[in-house]
Amino acid sequence: MAKPTYDASDAVRGEWLRRVQAEYTSAAVTQHFTLWLMQIAASPDLIRGGLRIAWDEMVHARMAHRTYVAAGGTEAPALVRERLGLVRSEEPLEYDVTRVAVNTFCIGETVAVPLFKCLREGCTNPVARRVLDRVLRDEVRHRDFGWSVLGWLLEGPMATQLRAVAVQALPQYFMQIQASYGASLKHLTAIPAEDRAWGLMPPAEYAAVVEKTLVRDWIRRFDAVGIDAQAAWDLSRRVKSTG
Ligand SMILES: [Fe+2]
Ligand SMILES: [Fe+2]
Repeated sequence: MAKPTYDASDAVRGEWLRRVQAEYTSAAVTQHFTLWLMQIAASPDLIRGGLRIAWDEMVHARMAHRTYVAAGGTEAPALVRERLGLVRSEEPLEYDVTRVAVNTFCIGETVAVPLFKCLREGCTNPVARRVLDRVLRDEVRHRDFGWSVLGWLLEGPMATQLRAVAVQALPQYFMQIQASYGASLKHLTAIPAEDRAWGLMPPAEYAAVVEKTLVRDWIRRFDAVGIDAQAAWDLSRRVKSTG
């Protein structure tokens, strides 16, 4: 039997370079978020969890870059410096911590688990596959970290205000996650098999995973902390269709 070959397309190189950039951003955001957790006197266990995640993301960046080079890429990642960190509002720090916990971890890292599962399924290139194996393993812990932080915030002395902050922000975050994962490109249902072997997936599949995550994860997990995710989701769809 012939050995499979893994010629990489421009799409493959572009996507893996984008992933390097995304992992740098995740690392910086998580490191900054952990500083915020220190400033609001979160438990050492949560702090340790945050620092460990920041390092995981750098490992992902290194592995993603290795894949990019294996695919024939030669460029340096173009990092948007302003996005490598968090921005404070004028409200109490706990409000901003709640927003980031919800958006980056409870939404972003939660949907990342099934997304990477799907990406990994079609991925046969050994270099790319190794990255997706590691990322998938880590994302489960990153997701759980987010829900632990949110649970802690919503049990504390500011629970009532912070729950209101989360409820208010949730529809917008749902809108953003749908927009960034292919909602407007749902018609693109296919990519070349060679690209899939390098760990890529068509936009329609990203969009489908986001929708499934609502039913499988978000409704149940947000419900457990007293937040109605279905209502926020419906609102996000309504705003989208009218706006
Ligand atoms: Fe990552
Ligand atoms: Fe992560």
